[in-house]
Amino acid sequence: MKRIVIFASGSGSNAENLIKFFHNSDNASVIQVLTNNPHAKVLDRCKRLKISALSFNRTAFSRSEDILNILIVTRPDLIVLAGFLWKFPEFILNEFENKVINIHPALLPKYGGKGMYGIHVHEAVVANKETETGITIHYVNENYDEGAVIFQAKCNVSPTDSVKDVAAKIHELEMEHFPLVIDKLLSE
Ligand code: GAR
Repeated sequence: MKRIVIFASGSGSNAENLIKFFHNSDNASVIQVLTNNPHAKVLDRCKRLKISALSFNRTAFSRSEDILNILIVTRPDLIVLAGFLWKFPEFILNEFENKVINIHPALLPKYGGKGMYGIHVHEAVVANKETETGITIHYVNENYDEGAVIFQAKCNVSPTDSVKDVAAKIHELEMEHFPLVIDKLLSE
């Protein structure tokens, strides 16, 4: 059984979707959720779904080896960033080479980088009158949104689409594809 650890910073709808998807899987399961935000809604979801969850501060994450040591003990086969907004420290990446992936709500390399997350991405897509957008699932490296792409899916943006409409289309793509891509990665 493959072991998945999720990092999330906010609502956690992707985290919940992954937890539910892998709940009945023979291949993998979500064993823990870690968050940098002690008020994140993802913590309520974990409580409801009976998944171990932990919040941490910057010292534990990047100025000491506390989170690294937890991960070493937990031994995840895959670390999944699902709406996680802090930069992932290089010393943790080095320990889990090619085992850290992220989902981004745009077609990278477009609309990536610092400050480009969640609704800000969709606002920029609408402001620039894009005719399509989508999701990117990629390996994480030391730069924001720059690691090798694993998977992309597209949707169209019509001239009348609001930011909320685009967000809903992206949400749908994320719910559909993210679990399947992870399942496939962990079956290889
Ligand atoms: C998702 O749309 C995810 O792609 C995005 O944050 C949202 C989190 O939603 N991630 C980024 O923008 C990373 N740069 P959730 O907390 O409901 O899963």
